[in-house]
Amino acid sequence: MTTQRIRLALQKSGRLSEDCFDLLARSGIKVRRHKDQLFCHSENFPIDILLVRDDDIPSLIIEHVCDFGIVGMNVLQETTLSKNAHDYSDLVEPIRNLNFGYCRLSIAVPSDYEYERIESLSGKSIATTYPHLLQKFLSTHDIDAKIIELTGSIEIAPRLGIADAICDLVSTGGTLAANHLKEAETILHSQALLIKARPTFTPEKQRIANLFMRRVQGVLQASESKYIMLHAPKDKLQQIVAILPGVEHPTIMTLDGDPTKVGIHAVCSESVFWETLEKLKDAGASSILVMPLEKMLM
Ligand code: PRP
Ligand code: ZN
Repeated sequence: MTTQRIRLALQKSGRLSEDCFDLLARSGIKVRRHKDQLFCHSENFPIDILLVRDDDIPSLIIEHVCDFGIVGMNVLQETTLSKNAHDYSDLVEPIRNLNFGYCRLSIAVPSDYEYERIESLSGKSIATTYPHLLQKFLSTHDIDAKIIELTGSIEIAPRLGIADAICDLVSTGGTLAANHLKEAETILHSQALLIKARPTFTPEKQRIANLFMRRVQGVLQASESKYIMLHAPKDKLQQIVAILPGVEHPTIMTLDGDPTKVGIHAVCSESVFWETLEKLKDAGASSILVMPLEKMLM
């Protein structure tokens, strides 16, 4: 019997690619990538990777060509509208946000264009690869504008005289600035998410899928969490533990040579800010250490 493998669709090149491969690496999944290759497989985990245009990823999952995909919320929402679905969870199973690929879908106009408010877009033409999201936004605001659907290089459309404005993704804003464009309206905030196909897998495939999801979950949970160690006066223990963000079961230890204090070790599942440390200090804590976590398996 050949071992079953799961198939993951990733963006071939673009904003998400590096972070996706980085996530796999941190999940202990080794993948050797060759230039211009559309398909690669892992040697140490039963997963194959299909490298495609991000816009094609939702369909590959919906049609069960791939079992998992990493895609921006922007692309997922556009696909949902284009398929007349009520919600993207009707089409695919969202697994979790991945804390990268942050961007927004915005309408941008030439820098010298005197944009005042949304009504300025009335009667104008807007080039985009997101016609459905744009149309929904314009309809909501009762704006009659012409949508010009293009497949790429949206940002040069105004200079070429193809459109008055564009509707595209903005991350750092570098692309807009380089093309003498400025943001006028934000339609949607987005980040990358892991999605899964909805069919029932064979038990063996489901086992691999669970393993994969648990690895990804472990990496992200670890990056969202911190390990904190500190000393606390015994009589302030309750008060100090209450300050620790997202801690469920701290480990309390006796300290050699100091019966008045205890050591506290805990995993904080939420961010630990300087303000938290200052509060702990004010409550009597000392020797406070905050450390990053690499992996977590709960
Ligand atoms: C998006 C968008 C811009 C760029 C914006 O491309 O189309 O080209 O990112 O990023 P910036 O604000 O940091 O300059 P994406 O990577 O999604 O590729 P695609 O449009 O070809 O799918
Ligand atoms: Zn795209």
